[in-house]
This record gives sequence, structure tokens and C-alpha cells, in this order.
Amino acid sequence: MEQETKFVQEIVERYDGDAGMLIPMMQDIQVEYGYLSAEQLRRLAKQLDVPLMRVYGVATFYSSFRLAPKGQHEVTLCMGTVCYLKGAGRISEVICDEFQVEPGGTTADRLFSFQPVNCVGACALAPVMIVDGKYYDGVTPASAIDILHSLPSEEETVEEAESYGKDK
Ligand code: FES
Repeated sequence: MEQETKFVQEIVERYDGDAGMLIPMMQDIQVEYGYLSAEQLRRLAKQLDVPLMRVYGVATFYSSFRLAPKGQHEVTLCMGTVCYLKGAGRISEVICDEFQVEPGGTTADRLFSFQPVNCVGACALAPVMIVDGKYYDGVTPASAIDILHSLPSEEETVEEAESYGKDK
């Protein structure tokens, strides 16, 4: 925590405390930590003497900012027009429901981050879901849930690697 506070201070100093440089400051913090924590945003607002609401306004306006740590897996769901017309809205709803995750958020166990996005340029395959860079086409609510339930957690990956090492 103290280290985070110090880092925010360093960033503010890097930009001479110029509140007009809020976005680059937030980008730098995100590069370092992978996301923007509530404490970092609070510190930033305090150090720059700007309302916290303004900092949150920027953080939530730009989809490139994350307010939660990244999950072990990256799940992207296309919400472009074609995918949407083929049921992407419903798929998003069932994912959020099943895994108690918000669009743009990360599951509580940090298994995956869920990001609905605009057209990913594969409309012929709609609806499209991308998991760690792998494209799944013609996804349905049920198949999306199955795919996500089959994602290995970090512990499983470590166990697999260990048992593989033992076999050798
Ligand atoms: S609308 Fe989904 S890939 Fe184009």
C-alpha cells in the first residue's frame, strides 16, 4: 500500500503536478500495476487537488482503463451489430449472471476478465467470443458457459506442470 502511494506521488511529480496531464498519469499507473485501484485514484485526486468524481469520470469513460486487476484469462465478447443481432446480448447476460462478473470486470476468483467490445472483424462467425486470443464462433449462451467453466485456474496449471515434471 505504501509503495502504491509512493508511486502515485512519483507519477504526479513526473508531470509537475499538472492536473491537465491526468490521463497520462493514469496510463502510467496502469502500466505499472495493470489496473487502477480505488486507493490510487483517491491519492491521485488528493495530490492533484481535483475532485475524486472527476478522476473516476475519466477512469470509467475510457474503456482502456481497468478498475480491477486482470484475471488469469482474457475473455472478450463481440457486441458488434451482427453478433448482437445473433444473441451476443443474451450471452453477455448469462456470463455476468453465471460468474457474477460485470462487463469490464474480473471474476472474484480472478479466473478471467470479461470485456465486451465492438466488432472484432469476424462477422461471418457471429456471435464471436475470444478467449486468450483464441476465437470461438457461433457461440451460444450454453456453449459460452461451458467454455468458461473449462478454463484452467492458475493452481490447476501449476499442478499439471508439476505432474508433467514427475512423469519425466
Ligand atoms: S459484429 Fe461481431 S465480429 Fe463483427
